[in-house]
Amino acid sequence: MRTEAETALAVLTMGAAEKDPVLSHAITLQGMEEQRHADILRLLTEKYGISVPKFAPEAPQDPNWAFMRIGYGECFDSFFAFGLFALARDSGFFLRTSSSSSSRSCRRKGATSSST
Ligand SMILES: [Fe+2]
Repeated sequence: MRTEAETALAVLTMGAAEKDPVLSHAITLQGMEEQRHADILRLLTEKYGISVPKFAPEAPQDPNWAFMRIGYGECFDSFFAFGLFALARDSGFFLRTSSSSSSRSCRRKGATSSST
């Protein structure tokens, strides 16, 4: 979650610093996507009661350098984080809540009503 949040801020800062408007928009959209990843991981940790120390990433002083140093490590972080949550859910390690099973209930209800 921290890596995603730091990446989001670095990408958004680079988007704001980029002078070409089309490139700036594209980079900013990617920064928003990285922030979405951080938000999803935050929501998952909150939902399952996983304690995460508070942190507040700071905008980089040198947007170009920070952007170039991002690398692909955060892709692995999000890939494994989302995958581990899915494995834990499917294994039964996480209890299913009414909100996590509501879409399945709706599908079952829909299947029942359409078959009768
Ligand atoms: Fe990401």
